[in-house]
Amino acid sequence: MTSRFDVTGHGVVVTGGASGLGLAYGEVLAAHGARVTLIDVDEAGLSREAARLEGEGLDVRGAIADVTDHAALDSAVDEAAAIYGRLDVAFANAGIDSGAGFVAGWAGSERPRVEEGAIERYTDERWNRVIDVNLNGIFATARAAARHMRPRGYGRIVVTTSLAATKVEPVIGSAYMASKAGARHLVRCLALELAAEGITANAIAPGFFVTNIGGGHAHDPELQAMVAKDVPMHRVGRPDDVKALALFLAAPASEYVTGQEIVIDGGWGLGIAD
Ligand SMILES: NC(=O)c1ccc[n+]([C@@H]2O[C@H](COP(=O)([O-])OP(=O)(O)OC[C@H]3O[C@@H](n4cnc5c(N)ncnc54)[C@H](O)[C@@H]3O)[C@@H](O)[C@H]2O)c1
Repeated sequence: MTSRFDVTGHGVVVTGGASGLGLAYGEVLAAHGARVTLIDVDEAGLSREAARLEGEGLDVRGAIADVTDHAALDSAVDEAAAIYGRLDVAFANAGIDSGAGFVAGWAGSERPRVEEGAIERYTDERWNRVIDVNLNGIFATARAAARHMRPRGYGRIVVTTSLAATKVEPVIGSAYMASKAGARHLVRCLALELAAEGITANAIAPGFFVTNIGGGHAHDPELQAMVAKDVPMHRVGRPDDVKALALFLAAPASEYVTGQEIVIDGGWGLGIAD
């Protein structure tokens, strides 16, 4: 079995790799011998994290690209594939929060409206940016990666969706939920498109993880404690929690698994919180 998890020398790209879950994906792959390019818009974060991991003896580099700039993204992926002479794994992970709103839903026993008039205040700019990063960015990343994977007849595309792809929660925000639900379907399309080529496409759907998304509100201990009460395992997720699943989906071990979305959330998505 050990050889089934061997990613030594594999070429890997991770969008949104300078922070949070993407950084964890990059770390675990590099720690198992893969060669990793973290792609991100955060120049300072990229150089800090790439230098830290290089300092630990890992083969990690940073590349600056915005996933909504498809030409720049193509170049970053092409460059990584050229350096490694192969591209085995692409994590389409970059994502942004949309802020609550649009679904003026009801929550809790007092059933307050979360945001009155939210649909009127939702701007085109806000809606389009979230869809562009969270959904179109996955399409562009998968396309850029498939160009390198198809000729070799091997590849792993791993997309970060969200529990919000399944569960409608007013506090999450409708553009975010719509983008993640779309991403979930896109993963299935990719899986069918690429199944015969030895390329798998799967999704990791996290619940509440402590990262920097949405300005880093998840670092607030009070918020964590509040969420943890509703999580059957009574704790929120940390980026380290996602590493084993990321390694599995990125490794040869997952060769007969495709088109799947695996929820990782300590049981939060089972519905008992509602
Ligand atoms: N943290 C959670 O609770 C949670 C839950 C479900 C899903 N997710 C998803 O996980 C993914 C990673 O988010 P995270 O929680 O690690 O947040 P994070 O903010 O810590 O990391 C996201 C990274 O993506 C980068 N990024 C943002 N826009 C980009 C763009 N246009 N091009 C390139 N890079 C860009 C950011 O600079 C950042 O480094 C996202 O898709 C997010 O929706 C997170």
